[in-house]
Amino acid sequence: MEKREKLYEGKAKIIYKTDEPDKVIMEFKDSATAFDAVKKAEIKGKGVINNTIATFFFELLKDKGIPSHYIKKLSDNEMLVYKVDIIPVEVVVRNLAAGSIVKRLGIKEKTEFNPPLVEFYLKNDELHDPIICEQHIYAMNLAKPEEVAKMKELALKINEILKEFMKENGIILVDFKLEFGRKGDEIVLADEISPDTCRFWDIKTGESLDKDRFRFDLGDLIEGYKKVLEKLEGNNEKN
Ligand code: C5P
Repeated sequence: MEKREKLYEGKAKIIYKTDEPDKVIMEFKDSATAFDAVKKAEIKGKGVINNTIATFFFELLKDKGIPSHYIKKLSDNEMLVYKVDIIPVEVVVRNLAAGSIVKRLGIKEKTEFNPPLVEFYLKNDELHDPIICEQHIYAMNLAKPEEVAKMKELALKINEILKEFMKENGIILVDFKLEFGRKGDEIVLADEISPDTCRFWDIKTGESLDKDRFRFDLGDLIEGYKKVLEKLEGNNEKN
């Protein structure tokens, strides 16, 4: 597998072409950004730990039959993935109220959503990723109704798998963001699942173990991400 020219650079990852047209390399950067990149930092080791955690989640989801762009981990900070046509809609699943929903709707933090909420956001930095509804998706021709139904179905399945798994390992899955892509006729999970894109709270202490540490200066980011990885890998004394 040959790494070729850069195809796209985002805030946290770079996509490179390979010598195979249907496969690309996703490189995890050490950059951390928050609040539309108003807050930025280079955090040594973040790329490696996010690649490790994302690989762990993609493998877990593959075992449970969730289709994704993931092929394999290539190196400490690189993953081989299928090239997909990204649907420019961010899908957020919420089990407990935190973050933007608390601010936007005045819902009390930690309010439980049962069934979980599924929300859509337009993936557009210039517009600050505004929240949208299904009708906006169709009006803007971003995806077809059957594709939206599939994204919702997969998002809720992924939530059940991850929520249960995290709970067994001492972590509350508060909320997370997913992106999906088209691979031929199939809708597959794309992008990443990591502490950059999820809210994880320690079941016992309530400590934030995700990017909120960086957003709100709650503590060392790598220390939190390492706790997530240790719990996932079962290296802790079982909570
Ligand atoms: O900011 P908000 O509360 O809407 O975020 C919900 C979840 O989605 C959080 O876990 C956050 O990390 C994630 N998210 C993300 N990328 C975005 C927006 C939200 O990963 N652009």
